[in-house]
Amino acid sequence: MPEEGADPFGWSETAGAAGVRVVLADIGDDRAVDAAETLNSRGLARTEVVDPGWVDDEMREFANGLRKPVDLDDPLNVAMASVAMGRFDACVAGASRSTADVLRAAIRVLGVAPGHDAVSSSFFFVLPDGRPIAYGDCGVIPDPDAAQLASIAIATAATYSELAANHADPEPRVAMLSFSTKGSAEHDKVDKVRDGTELVRQRAPELAVDGELQFDAAWVPAIGESKAPGSPVAGQANVFIFPDLDAGNIAYKITERLAGADAYGPLLQGIDGVVHDLSRGCSSDDIVSVSVIAAVQASARRR
Ligand SMILES: CC(C)(COP(=O)(O)OP(=O)(O)OC[C@H]1O[C@@H](n2cnc3c(N)ncnc32)[C@H](O)[C@@H]1OP(=O)(O)O)[C@@H](O)C(=O)NCCC(=O)NCCS
Repeated sequence: MPEEGADPFGWSETAGAAGVRVVLADIGDDRAVDAAETLNSRGLARTEVVDPGWVDDEMREFANGLRKPVDLDDPLNVAMASVAMGRFDACVAGASRSTADVLRAAIRVLGVAPGHDAVSSSFFFVLPDGRPIAYGDCGVIPDPDAAQLASIAIATAATYSELAANHADPEPRVAMLSFSTKGSAEHDKVDKVRDGTELVRQRAPELAVDGELQFDAAWVPAIGESKAPGSPVAGQANVFIFPDLDAGNIAYKITERLAGADAYGPLLQGIDGVVHDLSRGCSSDDIVSVSVIAAVQASARRR
């Protein structure tokens, strides 16, 4: 996360006006306690650190009724259940737990969002010239199939529009990336991206999407024009979907380190609720930033 105070899209104001309730799952962690205090005192979100005292008969009934019941002695499950039951709008977790723990709890308690078939993640960037872009998936699904790729694309487009809502360019234009542009190469890997693109068109007909595109055709207007003439996306994409986790993970680090972009993420998506995962090396300020992003997304979904 960029340094505290960086707020290029007015997220603090959006979050503060929405009065979103955020639960922090890292009980017993001073960073979470400090972050909750900051979020409450600055009016960014109504925040509480999870409390085992919240477990009541209604929550026990909820937990036992899940397809795979969960253990409410684990505060991670209590935090997720609080969101699933509508007691909170978003959960931020992972300062003291692994990404796999957070993902498993989110998948079991909240489940996959309607219309999606996988949980994935994205990165939202602000480029040095101020333009926003988003990448998916950079952190969860190692080798997505075409259907999962479509899910990643639709979820990353939604993440982009939620976070770029106050920017001049809030409409996502999705490039399904490959080493081929429109048949310039043939391979099973290219077929997967083409099939994924077609599934996005079927599942989200209103979304501007095109593929398969190489990065230069997706990003540079003149190259887009020559390699994919007439494309609604080529040369002007702002959402980039990578064919696998190698590509997505490597690309986000290059974008942050070589291009000097401010990177926000990984942001979990495709979950039926707003949940974000922290790095275990995070600071209290990082928890505040991620909670503000969660609050912005929760307020966008409320609308
Ligand atoms: C998500 C994750 C925690 C699941 O691990 P797991 O519990 O060992 O995985 P399993 O294959 O046993 O799956 C358990 C259940 O979760 C489901 N699941 C796994 N990954 C999923 C995903 N991305 N989206 C939705 N459901 C998923 C499985 O379908 C399975 O469901 P079932 O209980 O109905 O059979 C694991 O894939 C993971 O750790 N991913 C993160 C990768 C990572 O470390 N990234 C960081 C690098 S940047």
